Amino acid sequence: MGIVGKNVVKQFGSPPMVILHGLDLEIEDGEFVSISGRSGSGKSTLLYLLSTLDNPSDGVIEIDGVSPQKMTVNELHRFRNEKIGFIFQFHYLLPELTGLENVLLGPRNLGLEKQKKDEALALLDQLEVYKQANKFPSEMSGGEQQRVAIARALILSPKYLFADEPTGNLDSVSGNKVMSILEETSQNNNMTIVLVTHERDYAARANREIYLVDGRISENYS
Ligand SMILES: Nc1ncnc2c1ncn2[C@@H]1O[C@H](COP(=O)(O)OP(=O)(O)OP(=O)(O)O)[C@@H](O)[C@H]1O
Ligand SMILES: [Mg+2]
Repeated sequence: MGIVGKNVVKQFGSPPMVILHGLDLEIEDGEFVSISGRSGSGKSTLLYLLSTLDNPSDGVIEIDGVSPQKMTVNELHRFRNEKIGFIFQFHYLLPELTGLENVLLGPRNLGLEKQKKDEALALLDQLEVYKQANKFPSEMSGGEQQRVAIARALILSPKYLFADEPTGNLDSVSGNKVMSILEETSQNNNMTIVLVTHERDYAARANREIYLVDGRISENYS
């Protein structure tokens, strides 16, 4: 199982510009892997492919034993809801919902809103945004919104968690806290985590580091 990429190519535009040059990689279930590299090296592009949000131009991606490219839209939707958590650099909280309601959105769709409420509050507390539970996103700072978005990604304990610069909007204290939570979650819940970050210290806290240099996997960061 896990995540497997074989000869993964991604190109954009015409004439085509190749962004990922035939990558091979394997991420095992339960691994916590970081992807780092310079701006423009293809980190987000790769994360979108690994996390079923986009398809490669060539090559194959498999996640949890299935290929997203072969799924229907409905199957893909269900797969994401059941197995995948996403954290983006720019969170997408719904502005008309409070922090707690945003966290409980996924559970609500599954009829688990009441059941998950205490857990949601505990997560918000752990992320030090308990006080923001009943506030709307417009009433929170960027970092607070980001931490609520992290709680939302974790509430259903997805098998796979993909995070693109989750610490991007945070100061070092909050950034460290987020990293600790990712580390704990990966150890205690055996969650597979793929973290994109340009912060070398954070990248080094994963079980394994992958470096991208100009759309290729490299032995070293450069
Ligand atoms: N939809 C797109 N259309 C055309 N070019 C794109 C598209 N998405 C990304 N690119 C290009 O692909 C390259 C890699 O982009 P990507 O967003 O993956 O980089 P990154 O490593 O995540 O950078 P950053 O650290 O700045 O977030 C960039 O040159 C970017 O301009
Ligand atoms: Mg990026």
